[in-house]
Amino acid sequence: MHADPTIDWPALRSAALEMTLRSYAPYSHVRVGAAALADDGRVVAGCNVENASSGLGICAEVNAAGRLVATGGGRIVAIAVVAADGEPITPCGRCRQVLHEFGGPGLVIDRPGGPRPLGELLPDAFGPGDVEGRAG
Ligand code: THU
Repeated sequence: MHADPTIDWPALRSAALEMTLRSYAPYSHVRVGAAALADDGRVVAGCNVENASSGLGICAEVNAAGRLVATGGGRIVAIAVVAADGEPITPCGRCRQVLHEFGGPGLVIDRPGGPRPLGELLPDAFGPGDVEGRAG
């Protein structure tokens, strides 16, 4: 359990829930919203966007990460991901990897038992340091 009083979890959950209203999920009907706190204090959010070519759907967390980049960059400190019923969604493996790029192992993820660091959910992650110096 990582209780950081500077993270307003109710506000993040609420922003994530609001995003589920924008979700495009005509195939699974699972509407997902994600809201991430950036290191400069801004909240960047995204929803899942599915596709008729089913493998091409994009998760809410990926769109939140895109929003981070598109609105000025920075690092993600914490993230809440919820379904339309307000219950937390556990980030899929691909999303964990995408989140790792922008927050590293210390990024905290809202979980039912309390926020957990990404390092616990994606141990020994492949990251930017594993790419550096390996080209060629
Ligand atoms: N989904 C997310 O948006 N994030 C996750 O981490 C897990 C799954 C979406 C993908 C798909 O549109 C729907 O949930 C059902 O799998």
